[in-house]
Amino acid sequence: MASITIRNLDDETKQLLRERAARHGRSMEEEVRHMLRHATGAPASSATAEQPAIAAPPAGALSGKRILLVITGGIAAYKSLDLIRRLRERGAGVRPVMTEASKHFISTLAVGALAADRVFDDLFSREDEQDVGHIRLAREADLVLIAPASADFIGKMALGIANDLASTILLAASCPVLIAPAMNPSMWRHPAVRRNVETVRRDGVRLIGPMRGEMAESGEAGLGRMAEPLEIAAAAEALLDDGPKPLTGRRAIVTSGPTHEPIDPVRYIANRSSGKQGHAIAAALARLGADVTLISGPVAISDPGNVTTIQVESAREMLAAVEGQLPADIAVMVAAVADWRAAGQADEKIKKQPGEAPPPLLLTENPDILKTVGHHEKRPALVVGFAAETQNLEDNARAKLQRKGADWIVANDVSPDTGIMGGDHNRVRIVSQSGIEDWPRMDKQSVADRLALAIAKSFEDINASGS
Ligand SMILES: Cc1cc2nc3c(=O)[nH]c(=O)nc-3n(C[C@H](O)[C@H](O)[C@H](O)COP(=O)(O)O)c2cc1C
Repeated sequence: MASITIRNLDDETKQLLRERAARHGRSMEEEVRHMLRHATGAPASSATAEQPAIAAPPAGALSGKRILLVITGGIAAYKSLDLIRRLRERGAGVRPVMTEASKHFISTLAVGALAADRVFDDLFSREDEQDVGHIRLAREADLVLIAPASADFIGKMALGIANDLASTILLAASCPVLIAPAMNPSMWRHPAVRRNVETVRRDGVRLIGPMRGEMAESGEAGLGRMAEPLEIAAAAEALLDDGPKPLTGRRAIVTSGPTHEPIDPVRYIANRSSGKQGHAIAAALARLGADVTLISGPVAISDPGNVTTIQVESAREMLAAVEGQLPADIAVMVAAVADWRAAGQADEKIKKQPGEAPPPLLLTENPDILKTVGHHEKRPALVVGFAAETQNLEDNARAKLQRKGADWIVANDVSPDTGIMGGDHNRVRIVSQSGIEDWPRMDKQSVADRLALAIAKSFEDINASGS
């Protein structure tokens, strides 16, 4: 086919073409080819590597939903361009709002072309505000998604400041709000940011991320990186999923990750738990409609977007957080809680003394969180514990079931050659009073989905028996 010179088209045609191409995820040239093929009845050629075919959007929870995407001023704004595509692939309409700062990082042209909508950026726009545009924008959204959400913008949200279009829309919005924070790890750790994040969480705002990893701008690493566009799209999908849900009205507590038991201000006792299984279970229960609080030890993965996450460090902090969340209907205790902690935590870093033997490390027992919950006066109707074992898996799991007062024990073999601890797959056995179910090896997400379904089923059975 002959080459097509787009730049010879007049501006208005070019703009229409740009929008149409962005809508279909094609380059402008490919869009013209597609239109010509369609007009002449020529068969569609197979996609090339440069012009990939776009699959029809799946009919998921985002299909037909209107997302108001607020882009704020952070380096991660470049990922918002891909996010727009991911949301639109899933059938959502994306209306972009940009803060002044964000325009230093990406252009309104790129955002508008990918969203196939104009970019809204001016609170005092004469055209838009004739019909009080900021209120209309808020009302016409099914979800306000802020990605990236800068420290500055989260601070404004926490205080209710409304001094630009994006922040003013937020005060007028009554739909769900999801934010994907992105900032340098030291900013994320700052007490002011911690306070603001807690405040917006309490106001009902959902968070996805931030993630731990390398920062785009500085070669630094830590907690602060924006979640990936696919993860953000999945969190938006989960938030807007209004299909029938078997666990609606049930409260669940899930623990996840390791605990860190301090020896002195810089050293601690830990284990290799990644939190992947616990986090996946929390998200799977929430997808089935449960109101989930995830209590997580220190992990390198992001918080699921559809649950409330409380971060803790030690076993004692985890127990206090769990008890603070009772009563609940379901407790799934996945965290690999340290059995012991240092008998006394040194206030100062323990110094190595030349010529002296290493100091003894005296241990004392940690509280048993599963056992406490299993025998609690506010015991949830269903208590599920995890047993990570390297030997006598079934016998140990059966004994644990009795000792801890649990209804089910999910037993897994975490011997190093299984690759389960920290890996992406799991092979579990579900031990209950009625026997043992052996599940095949599958990814942790699938284990989570299957366990969440089994939990939902057990509540159906409870309802059916009228108890
Ligand atoms: C190069 C550069 C990168 C920045 N990256 C971030 C960032 O990732 N996260 C953040 O919260 N602020 C970041 N900032 C600071 C914000 O741009 C600044 O706080 C701004 O006022 C945010 O405005 P907004 O929240 O209205 O968009 C960065 C600034 C510069 C100059």
